[in-house]
Amino acid sequence: MESTRPLLVIAVLMNLVLLGAAKPPHIIFIVADDLGWNDVGWNNDQMFTPNLDKMASRGVILNSSYVQPVCTPSRNCYMTGYYPFHTGLQHIAILPDRAGYMPTKFPTLPEKLKPLGYSNHMVGKWHLGFCNWNYTPTYRGFDSFMGFYNGKEDYYTRMIATGYDFRFNDSVYHPQEGEYSTNVITNRAIEIMDSVDPVNDQLYLYLPFQSVHVPLQVPERFENIYSNITTKDRRTYCGMVSALDEAVGNITSALRDRGFMDNALIVFTTDNGGPTYTYSNNLPLRGSKTTLWEGGTRGVAFVYSDNLLNKTGYTNNEMIHAVDWFPTLLKLAGGEPDAGIDGVNQWPTISSGAPSARSEFVYNIDEIFKNAGIRIGQYKLIEGSPGRYNNWTPLPPQTAPDWSNASFPEHQLFDLEADPTEHHDIANDHPDVVSKLLDRLNFHKATMVPANFPPANPASYPTNFGGNWSPGWC
Ligand SMILES: *[C@@H]1O[C@H](CO)[C@@H](O)[C@H](O)[C@H]1NC(C)=O
Ligand SMILES: *[C@@H]1O[C@H](CO)[C@@H](O)[C@H](O)[C@H]1NC(C)=O
Ligand SMILES: *[C@@H]1O[C@H](CO)[C@@H](O)[C@H](O)[C@H]1NC(C)=O
Ligand SMILES: *[C@@H]1O[C@H](CO)[C@@H](O)[C@H](O)[C@H]1NC(C)=O
Repeated sequence: MESTRPLLVIAVLMNLVLLGAAKPPHIIFIVADDLGWNDVGWNNDQMFTPNLDKMASRGVILNSSYVQPVCTPSRNCYMTGYYPFHTGLQHIAILPDRAGYMPTKFPTLPEKLKPLGYSNHMVGKWHLGFCNWNYTPTYRGFDSFMGFYNGKEDYYTRMIATGYDFRFNDSVYHPQEGEYSTNVITNRAIEIMDSVDPVNDQLYLYLPFQSVHVPLQVPERFENIYSNITTKDRRTYCGMVSALDEAVGNITSALRDRGFMDNALIVFTTDNGGPTYTYSNNLPLRGSKTTLWEGGTRGVAFVYSDNLLNKTGYTNNEMIHAVDWFPTLLKLAGGEPDAGIDGVNQWPTISSGAPSARSEFVYNIDEIFKNAGIRIGQYKLIEGSPGRYNNWTPLPPQTAPDWSNASFPEHQLFDLEADPTEHHDIANDHPDVVSKLLDRLNFHKATMVPANFPPANPASYPTNFGGNWSPGWC
């Protein structure tokens, strides 16, 4: 014991010297699309996700990390630190022919990282508006962009409805014909690493993968991993998850080979809960993507670093919301978020397991669907219809229809500590708690801006742009 003490002292001193000189870390922010709670190895041993499992178990599994019910709104949170009901993006996803967008008055994370010396690169899915060039990634802080503007395209042809949607920076780009998008994204991510100096530069790499959104498409070798799953579509979906896992494994190896991992933080999160209606699974959570249930909003997430986290190898149960990444990462990079944003800095929680910096968050406020949700402490209030998918959808083969037309009381209350799977509406037993949460929800509602959800506009049609979904129509 005595003999190890000098070594310990030296180690601590060396750490201080290193920390004192430390540069802000490389940040790799990986977003999976439509990955369900029960679709990763650490929650479901049917899943083959060895790379993700290893990073999650050696990093910090975020067990109470909340996202929006659908895609665009969550991405808005990561990019701005504001709830979508403050930016006008609270109503569903941006559809290709509607002029929805993330307003330019809200600075993006890469715009804030730029003056701190970061090289900002994005590969994958944008889905935050493209009707005007000013709304597209290279005009919103990214030095380079390879990927697509919209939400749901073919993994091989890169078509959405009647239009092609794939760019390198501002130009239409055709990767090798028939190359699976997960590989295209991975190859570009690795190419970016070769343009950045791991010691002298700082990299912000935003990797919103297309995986594992529909259409259900995957190279056969991934599907074959699941040959004992009898439902073809579930087999394909699981294969897509394993392809994503391989991609993250390749990216992590490439980061390590090039020396980035000496000073890097990797964040992995889904954008919303799994769509149970397209073979994703959220058990034991209730509901699906598109709903305010936990299955739609409690997202799979973890952080990993070789050396930046003080406490690792455990499951963190502290409340974190998608808006928190903006201030957390910006602070870590040495910057300061603007006053008034909705996110809070969660670095002490994430790096050391400190209590969450928040005790409340808003699930969403959607004045078109006329629904909303709020969490304060252990309680969750849902106002209006939570959405269309209200079941605890079993793993395929399904024994019950997923879609339910059930009607619910105007206000439901759940105690998520006692009942994280939302089996018992306790609103009638706790009118005082309902009224407290409702007051707070109404306080937030008073700050809402109207949803920007304009009608479909034929000026958007790819026929006007040589067959491509293209900026220039708003
Ligand atoms: C398929 O087989 C693997 C390996 O034997 C097993 O771990 C997994 O649970 C099985 N999956 C199903 C759906 O039975
Ligand atoms: C996109 O921009 C990046 C950064 O300026 C550059 O390295 C890359 O070559 C550009 N790609 C194309 C196809 O212009
Ligand atoms: C991962 O790397 C291996 C080896 O280079 C390669 O065969 C595979 O296609 C890569 N997978 C992805 C998803 O990029
Ligand atoms: C994750 O959260 C659930 C409650 O929502 C809890 O039952 C479970 O024990 C937590 N996992 C760990 C490992 O703490």
